Amino acid sequence: MKRTILAWGMSCILSIAAFGQDSAQNSFSPGKIWEDTEGTHINAHGGGVLFHNGTYYWFGEHKTAGSSGNRANVGVRCYSSADLYNWKNEGVALPVAAEGSGSDIEKGSVIERPKVIYNASTEKFVMWFHLELKGQGYHAARTGVAVSDRPEGPYTFLRSLRPNAGTWPVNFPESWKSKKVTEADLEAWSPTWKKEVAEGLFIRRDFGTGQMSRDMGLFVDDDGKAYHIHSAEENLTLHISELTDDYLGFTGKWAVMEPAGHNEAPALFKKDGKYYMITSGCTGWDPNAARSFVADDIMGPWKSLGNPAQGEGASITFDSQSTYILPVQGRKDAFIFMADRWEPKNAIDGRYVWLPVQFRDGKPELTWRDQWSLDVFDH
Ligand code: DGJ
Repeated sequence: MKRTILAWGMSCILSIAAFGQDSAQNSFSPGKIWEDTEGTHINAHGGGVLFHNGTYYWFGEHKTAGSSGNRANVGVRCYSSADLYNWKNEGVALPVAAEGSGSDIEKGSVIERPKVIYNASTEKFVMWFHLELKGQGYHAARTGVAVSDRPEGPYTFLRSLRPNAGTWPVNFPESWKSKKVTEADLEAWSPTWKKEVAEGLFIRRDFGTGQMSRDMGLFVDDDGKAYHIHSAEENLTLHISELTDDYLGFTGKWAVMEPAGHNEAPALFKKDGKYYMITSGCTGWDPNAARSFVADDIMGPWKSLGNPAQGEGASITFDSQSTYILPVQGRKDAFIFMADRWEPKNAIDGRYVWLPVQFRDGKPELTWRDQWSLDVFDH
């Protein structure tokens, strides 16, 4: 009897070990189904990654089936990994509030592009995300903040807001602050309209209520200062906004980037003291050509470096849209471009496109790879 139990135990251990080995990943396959350690397609869209105490935490939108699956029906999901290839489902880090609760994040609102950063002085994990209030389409254009004592959550929702009410950008001439021209005076998309947008048409309109905040990213600089980068002004201009020391609010110091440039999906990283940003154009869920920029100061000026994607598929960023640039720990100058291949009619089936960022002549470059591993950074 004892021998039978022992033999059964051994065979279980062997098959678990064999299963673990078979299912363990050691490469990235952009655009394919990515299974978590339980064999379920990873559900973390529009995401970002936090590295904390030797573990990577991937946060993203939990999508559900069908086109209504683009709404926040569940919340923000978290996965953890030690090696970036194998991801364990850590559950829902920020759950939506109950339907009918009246909460800003109630079920059926829109919660997109969540990002988490760690504040060393408060020892809190801080999540920011794009929030659209239930039933208002993309009109609210707010950002929400939530906080937790643990990386994987649960996060407590604090509030949502439009940033920088009552403050002007640092790079905004005095004379533009009192211009009287309004939207009603202009033909949308005409050259004059575009010039007026670049000279603060929407900044003045939203001065009192706070600036719009849709697609967003976060960036923590070497000095610990954190920045919230968001598509504002009807998605026409990016705003780079400094966060308070506890990362829970805005200081009111902010800059406009690419005025009237129509950028979404901002992803910022730093290499050799320079700031780089990869963005997309604005075509809804459809992919378009990525853009890249460089600056010596995070508040600008930013210089365009053109489309970072090269080769076949470059004009639609290999059918994807940027969400985050992930610095690989322990490897110098190793950055992963993280992007989403959206599936708007069946949101849960969206895929992930991760590609290495390589530098040529001082510019970030992305080329398609069916399959790759971190070894590419060794060459
Ligand atoms: C493009 C944005 O990048 C996405 O996050 C999402 O907001 C869609 N637009 C909605 O159409």
